[in-house]
Amino acid sequence: MCGIVGYIGGRSAWPIIVKGLQRLEYRGYDSAGIAVIDDGALRVNKCRGKVADLLNLVRSQPIGGTIGIGHTRWATHGEPNDVNAHPHVSMNGHFVVVHNGIIENYREIKARLAEKGYTFKSQTDTEVLANLIECLYIEQGLTAEQAIKAALRKVIGAYGLGIMCVDESGLLFGARKGSPLAVGVGEGEFFLASDATPIAEHTDKIIYLDDEQVVTLSRDGYYVSNLADDHLDPVISHIDFAVDNIDKGGYEHYMLKEIHEQPNSVADTMRGRVNPQTRTISLGGIADVLPRLVKARRIIIVACGTSYHAGLVGEYLFEQFARVNVEVEYASEFRYRDPIITPDDVIIAVSQSGETADTLAAIRMAKQKGALVLGICNVVGSSIARDTDAGIYTHAGPEIGVASTKAFTAQVTVLTMMAFLLGRKRGALSQERYEQLVESLLRVPDMIGRVLQDEAHIRDVSKAYQLAQNAIYLGRGYLYPVALEGALKLKEISYIHAEGYPAAEMKHGPIALIDNCMPVFVLAAHDMYYDKIVNNIQEVKARKGQVIAIVTRGDSEISKMADYVIEIPECDEALLPLVAVVPLQLISYDVAVMRGCNVDQPRNLAKSVTVE
Ligand code: M6R
Repeated sequence: MCGIVGYIGGRSAWPIIVKGLQRLEYRGYDSAGIAVIDDGALRVNKCRGKVADLLNLVRSQPIGGTIGIGHTRWATHGEPNDVNAHPHVSMNGHFVVVHNGIIENYREIKARLAEKGYTFKSQTDTEVLANLIECLYIEQGLTAEQAIKAALRKVIGAYGLGIMCVDESGLLFGARKGSPLAVGVGEGEFFLASDATPIAEHTDKIIYLDDEQVVTLSRDGYYVSNLADDHLDPVISHIDFAVDNIDKGGYEHYMLKEIHEQPNSVADTMRGRVNPQTRTISLGGIADVLPRLVKARRIIIVACGTSYHAGLVGEYLFEQFARVNVEVEYASEFRYRDPIITPDDVIIAVSQSGETADTLAAIRMAKQKGALVLGICNVVGSSIARDTDAGIYTHAGPEIGVASTKAFTAQVTVLTMMAFLLGRKRGALSQERYEQLVESLLRVPDMIGRVLQDEAHIRDVSKAYQLAQNAIYLGRGYLYPVALEGALKLKEISYIHAEGYPAAEMKHGPIALIDNCMPVFVLAAHDMYYDKIVNNIQEVKARKGQVIAIVTRGDSEISKMADYVIEIPECDEALLPLVAVVPLQLISYDVAVMRGCNVDQPRNLAKSVTVE
């Protein structure tokens, strides 16, 4: 949830670190800080607020130094303030630490350190860790690297760490367990970062550290080892996106850019997998395990948030086309429920970041129980991608806006490809129907493009609801998960209370909320539920609710009843989620902007939730 950047090399460290923190700010943005060692002296600047506030601070007191670490925070222990902001310096000033994760046994460690005379300035678990490292360093006469490893052997919890020791100022240390950390390998310079985005503009060579690995960086090279002190030979991977992908590209916000990228990102998700000539699908990432997937007794999709909504679409797809039992579970519930899992089950973890703590824990548990575990992730080299038996990358490109948009359509695209392929392999889909579906899927990027052309009309509709206090989203079948996703998008970035329901559920309670102030967004495209959803619209109108209907182009019936209609192109019912979600994303965006909200960094949220 927090972002870490580190640099060692020949250039001035602070501009590189601050720029890196700006790239990582989507991970957490309640405080920021930087520590640099300049001529043997440690300089620390940190403050509550955004990286821009830190930049003002640093600019007013320029600092030198070619080694440093920085942090952008999403508070776990202690409120966001200047003192709790990272980096944290150990009591005697030997070590300085930035940390992403939670040290679960920090209270016990703190008590033991207090008995030895250690005092603490902050309420954070990180300061406890800094002091533990220092205590071991002094008491046992260890090197900095040895002291870090000795301390990490004592902690329980998750960490991505950047550490410097003032006495060994030619070395920069990193360590990970549970929270991601990568090393950028440049020419005579090295970078540490929570993900590839701050590294990409400096080098395309990257090492993704594994759990319980420690890296020691000098200007001459890197040395990776584990907590048992064994030397390891890490794999160097290549960053697979261009720096342009992590800029706003002329858009006012990342979210708007990412919404507009969807015709391309969905095409990218299909690239090399859906063959337009043969009208077939081939999924290299799961080719080896396909026979086991085909024979699966049950598929369990685990995810959180938007990815969970994508999973719900997957449930409809797998059941309809592959005729296999599917359950979709919130990872946070699934992991603790001691669910009944057998080796005939296949677990599919869906996650944009690939770092979501609950999803990661859920797949580890399922693996132990012998299930085949697959991943659908966007971030290459992420923990979930590496901890699964096989998987499919969504290839949507970096998603920086905290509100997930293009990741959702990419995830649904992967699930759609899987369902069609599995349907064919299980004999549940005829060759003819399979080919028709593949053809329709190939048309989706174009359909999304056509929805985006209607942006001005969608903005006009949004204007009418910028002052709303509540909203209801209704859908049926494939469009029910889209209703949930629409409501989540609105609430997370505009802070309007919004709920999604299966339209038929309205009568069982939510209808009591409907009056002339209640906007009701109804997903009412042409599908098998059309007549039923028309009835639901009438029920809302009879209670004077405001209806904003997402309809199939040319629909004349609903436009007579609804207050506003937004048209989407006619498409196969199973592909509707990919198209119908787009106007809802735009409405949330427009309303949030009109309300003056920080669209890309909504309050209290962080992009990747690496704590449970
Ligand atoms: O990285 P993940 O897909 O695992 O993240 C799961 C949720 O935290 C995420 O989808 C969240 O709900 C989005 N910010 C919503 O827009």
